[in-house]
Amino acid sequence: MSIIEEIEKYAKENDIPIMQKEGIEFLTNYIKENNIKTILEIGTAIGYSAIKMALGDPKIKVVTIEKDEKMYQEAIKNISDFGLDKRITVIYADALNINIEEKFNMIFIDGAKGQYIKFFEKYQNNLKRKGVIVTDNMNFYGLVKRKDPILSKSLNSLVNKIRDYRNFLEKNPNFTTKFYDVGDGIAISIKK
Ligand SMILES: C[S@@+](CC[C@H](N)C(=O)[O-])C[C@H]1O[C@@H](n2cnc3c(N)ncnc32)[C@H](O)[C@@H]1O
Repeated sequence: MSIIEEIEKYAKENDIPIMQKEGIEFLTNYIKENNIKTILEIGTAIGYSAIKMALGDPKIKVVTIEKDEKMYQEAIKNISDFGLDKRITVIYADALNINIEEKFNMIFIDGAKGQYIKFFEKYQNNLKRKGVIVTDNMNFYGLVKRKDPILSKSLNSLVNKIRDYRNFLEKNPNFTTKFYDVGDGIAISIKK
């Protein structure tokens, strides 16, 4: 089994929501086609998407933020297994409580789903000219498009937050957003 397959297996066995295969493939292709070299990721988990993105090209650099200590430690270990320590920097912090000065070609939002608007508003300032913000889980396992009521109150609230975020992106005058039905639904918002 390859190291990547081992990470995928670990994520499955431990219920860690890493990107779906189709989604990460779409994202890595997008990074390649658009010559993206600097990426800020919000929500590292165990480093799976950061590693996949960095493996696309030796010039790619990723800064990724994770607030859970166990996840952070696991990410550090996985990144080191790939010898990617110099190209992937993991910051152990709540992304909403820190300030980053650096500017990036791409920001990838994959942290707590209820906080997507806050992540977007805070980190849009870290984009380079014509940069792009990518967001995962725009379909939230098909629940966002469902019309019948969802029974769990907390799930319902989360689904509504994703709907609010989709509206926020569609109405945002500073970005043009396209939604793609790949993986769990990906939004690509290009700065005007
Ligand atoms: C969906 S997982 C990330 C998956 C990862 N991007 C991948 O595909 O391999 C979300 C992660 O974001 C972290 N997270 C949630 N809110 C955060 C915040 N405010 N700051 C930093 N990390 C956060 C969670 O602890 C969790 O590990």
